[in-house]
Amino acid sequence: MTDADHIDALLAKLSRTQKLALVRGATDPKGTATGYISGVDEAGIPPFRLVDGPLGIRAEGHHATAFPASIATAATFDTDLAQRQGAAMGREATALGQDALLAPGVNIIRAPHCGRNFEYLSEDPVHAGAIGASLVDGIQSEEVVATVKHFVANNQETHRTTVSAEVDERTLRELYLPPFRAAVDAGVGSVMTAYNRVNGTHMSDHEPLIGDVLKGEWGFDGYVVSDWYGLESTVGAANAGMDLEMPGVAAPGAEDTAADETADGDTVEWPDGIPDATHAGLFGDPLAEAIDNGDVPAGRLDDMARRILGQMDRFGRLDGGRTAAEGGNSDGQAGELDSQRHREIAADVAARGTVLLDNDGVLPLDDGADVAVIGPNIDEPKLGGGGSSETTPVHSVTPIAGVESRAEGAVTTAFGVPQIESVSLFDLLPFVGEDEDADKAAADTAEREPSLDDAVTAAESADVAVVFVRDATTEARDRDSLALPGQQDELVSAVAAANENTVVVVRSGGPVELPWREDVAAVLEQWYPGQADGDAAAAVLYGDCDPSGRLPVTFAPESEYPTAGDERRYPGVDDEAHYDEGVFVGYRHFDDGDADPTYPFGHGHSYATFEYGDAEATAEQTVTVPVENVADRPGREVVQAYVRPPSVEGGDRPERELAGFEAVQLAAGERQTVELTLDDLAFSRYASDSGWTVDTGTYTVEIGRSSQDIRTTVPVDR
Ligand code: NOJ
Repeated sequence: MTDADHIDALLAKLSRTQKLALVRGATDPKGTATGYISGVDEAGIPPFRLVDGPLGIRAEGHHATAFPASIATAATFDTDLAQRQGAAMGREATALGQDALLAPGVNIIRAPHCGRNFEYLSEDPVHAGAIGASLVDGIQSEEVVATVKHFVANNQETHRTTVSAEVDERTLRELYLPPFRAAVDAGVGSVMTAYNRVNGTHMSDHEPLIGDVLKGEWGFDGYVVSDWYGLESTVGAANAGMDLEMPGVAAPGAEDTAADETADGDTVEWPDGIPDATHAGLFGDPLAEAIDNGDVPAGRLDDMARRILGQMDRFGRLDGGRTAAEGGNSDGQAGELDSQRHREIAADVAARGTVLLDNDGVLPLDDGADVAVIGPNIDEPKLGGGGSSETTPVHSVTPIAGVESRAEGAVTTAFGVPQIESVSLFDLLPFVGEDEDADKAAADTAEREPSLDDAVTAAESADVAVVFVRDATTEARDRDSLALPGQQDELVSAVAAANENTVVVVRSGGPVELPWREDVAAVLEQWYPGQADGDAAAAVLYGDCDPSGRLPVTFAPESEYPTAGDERRYPGVDDEAHYDEGVFVGYRHFDDGDADPTYPFGHGHSYATFEYGDAEATAEQTVTVPVENVADRPGREVVQAYVRPPSVEGGDRPERELAGFEAVQLAAGERQTVELTLDDLAFSRYASDSGWTVDTGTYTVEIGRSSQDIRTTVPVDR
């Protein structure tokens, strides 16, 4: 019997009520899962648990490894490492009795203000696609279903549940859809739809994108799950191709909150960005009625159930052996949680994803240097941003602890300015009671009494001052400014005036403004480094790990982004965000205009020095380039290939587009010929009337260290 026959035979045994139980979430009796399907015990279909999220496993009541933010994983430009992180998350999901992971998030970083940029990968579709596909591959190599999200054009948190991304087809095809396509090509088992609308239609009702593109054109045969409380309708969604409603039941406490409020005659106000947590059950009785009325074909319910059962079967959930709920995967392995190797992967990603933005030679630090560790949050790890991706690790390392354990010289510390408080979606929920942790944190902050003078004194008497600064971003809220919050800019300037060897270590969810950058000796961008925080910082500061991170997003003055200064584009007017910039997002925008980025896409220094030889085109889609590490220390280089089209006819093609990249570790003096595979997407353009075209002509493949630092070029004919 083929797998399909097996599923059909199982389906034939199920009643309609049993099928309906498969396509709508229920309450998890164990309370660990983010989403739960009850299964059909009589038919041997076990319960199925779905869990957040991209930065590690958020199983309620459990600890798990806190991996760095997804943008840090992307900054490694290292698909093998991303695959290993995915596999580690898969093993942790298994150990925690979960069947599907609600990751990765692959939305293109369009607006630098988006509160969830830390959960996403890149402003470039080839880059986001490659890293996303590697994460999918890793997660699923451990027999856990990966869920690529949020399909599609969920590029801002402001009005995320209602805003319509007004975006033309070419832009969708060339920019926003490809990372999802890459995940589908990598065999992803599940796709989560976005909360927003696209061109007026809610994504869960969007038949052209779900039914036609995703399932039709791309041949996606897994299941499409709604975002939480994000199913818009019964009939529209079922007919559009939605397969699973999550969570399917109202949030505990939400109904009561709504009822309390309405008793006073007011309707409950859900804060912007928070979905209505009573909006559930659309694939319950209403779906049965819609089928009875003929509004939804009965075959659609079979198809939904078949798709969910298909993934359960594919990952060994239907063979009567293992269920994740019992622990272990289909090979009888019990998963793995917080193991030494997972801690090491988390630390490797954090260190390798670190981008050395500037360095006048102060880094790497001398082992014996006396160091002042300064910053308002130096006694806390920066695990991640707020929201559904929050994780709770067993073990974490603060910046102070990381530097202290590595330094051979004296270490002094100072907070300098008031602590930056984390923000979280969970503090915005109207139906959750007072947060005791937040009260405690506020009390702790009050006790600190930070002083700028103490920071200056510490800086003056040390060889090097290392200032740790951070932003605070969360799901459900966009940033209102790219400036660092609080008095951190003032702190950096004061420390820089006191010590010429000032190094700033930035922790941010995306681009931030660094107004003092020319007054300091070095700047490192560490994103949100996760549990390994202080260790990863020390590894890079002292040169144990070469800073091989490269920027997955352009850093520029706030006013120069294509979404700046035009409310119509961002955050939108009358609930419509017009993507008038088209494909000119990120470096495509900066290459096209007069404004220079502060740090371009792909940028990042190394402690080593690399020389590039002449590139050669060795096959239709392959170029090679010799790269030599001419330094006396090992280093890691990210070799990047961009494609320039033959002529920018009509001026509407980007000047260059990333076509491929490869991270290579080179010993001192080592030379390697690096082979790069060029993605078709960089050669293609899309027009609504004619579809995809590869113009005939000579393309220039540019190879270098960043989108602005090209070292060699080679012509390629198409
Ligand atoms: C909403 C978020 O948008 C999504 O990413 C997450 O997986 C679900 N909530 C479940 O927590």
